[in-house]
Amino acid sequence: MPTIKFSVKTMSQLIQQSNDCLVIIGAQNNYSAVMKKLDAAARNQVTACVQQGDLGGDAGANILLPTIAGNTTKRILLVETGASKMSSADFIKVLNAVGKRLSALKKVKKACLLLVKVNVIGHDFAWQCREIGKNLVCNSYRYTSTLSKPPATPAYRHITLACDGAGHETEGHKAVNEGAIIGGSINHARHLGNLPANHLTPSDLAKFAKKIAMEHAPLTCQVISEKDMRQLGMNSLLSVSAGSVEEAKLIIMRYQGAAKSKKPYVLVGKGITFDTGGISLKPSSAMDEMKFDMCGAATVIGAVLGAVQLKLPINVVSIIAAAENMPNGNATKPGDVVTSMSGKTIEILNTDAEGRLVLCDAITYAKKFNPLQIIDVATLTGACVVALGHIAAAVYTTDDKMAQELLAAGDTVGDRLWRMPLWEEYQKDLKSNFADVANIGGRSAGSVTAACFLARFADFAPWAHLDIAGVAWKSGGKDKAATGRPVGALLQYLQQQAIK
Ligand code: BES
Ligand code: MN
Ligand code: ZN
Repeated sequence: MPTIKFSVKTMSQLIQQSNDCLVIIGAQNNYSAVMKKLDAAARNQVTACVQQGDLGGDAGANILLPTIAGNTTKRILLVETGASKMSSADFIKVLNAVGKRLSALKKVKKACLLLVKVNVIGHDFAWQCREIGKNLVCNSYRYTSTLSKPPATPAYRHITLACDGAGHETEGHKAVNEGAIIGGSINHARHLGNLPANHLTPSDLAKFAKKIAMEHAPLTCQVISEKDMRQLGMNSLLSVSAGSVEEAKLIIMRYQGAAKSKKPYVLVGKGITFDTGGISLKPSSAMDEMKFDMCGAATVIGAVLGAVQLKLPINVVSIIAAAENMPNGNATKPGDVVTSMSGKTIEILNTDAEGRLVLCDAITYAKKFNPLQIIDVATLTGACVVALGHIAAAVYTTDDKMAQELLAAGDTVGDRLWRMPLWEEYQKDLKSNFADVANIGGRSAGSVTAACFLARFADFAPWAHLDIAGVAWKSGGKDKAATGRPVGALLQYLQQQAIK
């Protein structure tokens, strides 16, 4: 992935720079003197466009204007903000429109972004800069791995930013570069999510984790083999990979950004590199999308990668339970009972409810890190998609403060989370006659009972579970792709925790 350089300048520094495209965000009737000078280079087309109402008024609407030959500004992209005070959603809409336009311009390597009296409700200049960095990096991502003629990566590499008005250049510079790091972490998660299951086995995922740990000191990575897992008593996790020729891997990535004595945030990710359902085989329609069943793992890798690059003053451990869920002669059968690492026995009534089986052992393993908090992230249930659609990921926790702070973090960055109940009354659905717990409940509240199952194993530390089944990827058709959600919300959460 190519890096994009961001800097923040004052208005007067900016107008002296040559650039391939000047992006004016904010179509105004009363431009400042500096702006009028810039407009002159485009034969006053900017003001003409505004006066004639050619942009139409919707946030993100834009027009590309040529400037006169020989000018240091080659083009002007005029972008509508919709209103003088805009919502955060509209601001992000504007940034995506800019990203899309710039991506299509093959000759634009260096662009200047000018925010003209941009006012986002409830957010300061630093937030705007962070969103600019993040969204422009995200917009430059292209899937290339398995295409013989991959699409070109967008040409833009240098983005200079200025604000017509107040000067907070130092603060802005820091924020835009933080945003770029977050965008890069999101893109890493998208890349992993998009890889086909034959290009990303649990072993491949472990190799990838080792590689990024090598590239990002002081990040470290340790991989636990099936043999070691057997020693540790992780029979629940092992029961999922029993039917696959691919070995399961438990991948541990650690970032120490604070004193060793400080308890870490432990992130646990579901890394099912392909979910056929096992013996409880899934129907074949859209089964290809079960390559995305490792998006929880991709999220926690993205989050720890972001944490190390942002140099957050906290300790973070990401634990990834990677396995392939396949049917064969060795596969786990419905009705089989396994003993998990915690000692609790589990009756596997449905081999397609495999996410919770790998997660419960990974959560038990987390105990050795003495976590400050545990957050697990998983494409856990189809029922979650029924409940919340593709707008918000579900949050389950009995810790009100964690719930509140996770939701607030998601809101801040437009990567929304919504709290669901974890009441004791749901637990009885998991009763088994042959084990301590069954791995499925009844037909109703499938996302809740899945969370209830995990809760039984996460009783030793403050814990939250994120069911990301509805948000981790876009289904079907031409939009089919991993989204990288909720890396943004998690990094915002960790950043918020770090300054406390
Ligand atoms: N990975 C799936 C959940 C899933 C399904 C996510 C479709 C996104 C779209 C998970 O392993 C699964 O199969 N869950 C079952 C649980 C059921 C057997 C209790 C489900 O949701 O159908
Ligand atoms: Mn499944
Ligand atoms: Zn699954």
